[in-house]
Amino acid sequence: MELDCEGDEASAWRFGAASPVLTAARSQSIRAMVYRVYDCLDRGDARPVAPLGHGDPAAFACFRTAPPATDAVAAAASSGVLNSYAPAAGLAEACSAVAALLSRELPYEVSPRDVVLTAGCNHAVEIMMTVLAAPGANVLLPRPGYPLYASRAALSGLEFRHFDLLPDKEWEVDLAGVAALADDNTVAMVIVSPNNPCGCVYSRHHLAQIAQTARKLGIMVISDEVYDHFAFGSKPFVPMGVFGEIAPVVTLGGISKRWMVPGWRLGWIAATDPNGILRKKKVMDSIIDYRGISVDPVTFVQVSTLSSC
Ligand SMILES: Cc1ncc(COP(=O)(O)O)c(C=O)c1O
Repeated sequence: MELDCEGDEASAWRFGAASPVLTAARSQSIRAMVYRVYDCLDRGDARPVAPLGHGDPAAFACFRTAPPATDAVAAAASSGVLNSYAPAAGLAEACSAVAALLSRELPYEVSPRDVVLTAGCNHAVEIMMTVLAAPGANVLLPRPGYPLYASRAALSGLEFRHFDLLPDKEWEVDLAGVAALADDNTVAMVIVSPNNPCGCVYSRHHLAQIAQTARKLGIMVISDEVYDHFAFGSKPFVPMGVFGEIAPVVTLGGISKRWMVPGWRLGWIAATDPNGILRKKKVMDSIIDYRGISVDPVTFVQVSTLSSC
């Protein structure tokens, strides 16, 4: 075929970027909206721009990670022995470090075999919203929430339904609403704890109620704890995994916020599930399979978590 490139040159080509799936996913994304607003800025205007919707402490000079962490990354990068690909789940010593970190606050030991390293917590969200996308399945997401969950679910063809967080009850989960939304095809509910965007820290009692609700419904709890220990009031942070005996919990985390290095791109998925249900149901196998065909966290950053943890 001879393309007629005279006149409207672009229209002669068959391809385009009009993926309806991507459009649906993007419509859920606050980041896409923020970038659209930034694009409207007058670059010639010298006034400072407040980075709204920008959860990046490293953008501010007053927030710097601890020198031992930067020293560890520099040493790991210059060692010459960490320039290779890492195994799909992550380097064994890094998985062990994360397992030990999580185990400190749980009534049981997390096995390194139950930890999968990811390229940041967002990657962990992507993986979970992909591996759960069996035909017909649905997942319950908090509203207000972190919009990436809905974007990623939309991209994977995973149906999502929103349950409310209750402003009059310190943004606790509307558990009756969760039960009303769920059906036989519901596979998981997501909580963000401590919460973005509401900033609340859930009490031990409320987390136990969430676990009981998940148990009744036969679903897992995905607990996004990327803000673990960002608890400044009287309520301490309690990991959802404490209640992993009641219902299987998948804990998502990362070093972005706590270590103030979002650009280092290291996160994790951990089965905080002492009954081993996620393993029996092959969820961990699917997670590792998906990791094997997606991006890898940088090898020398994986190792430096050992000294940061
Ligand atoms: C709830 C939540 N999960 C995950 C992330 C992303 O974490 P990471 O930078 O490790 O990908 C964010 C970042 O703002 C977040 O607010």
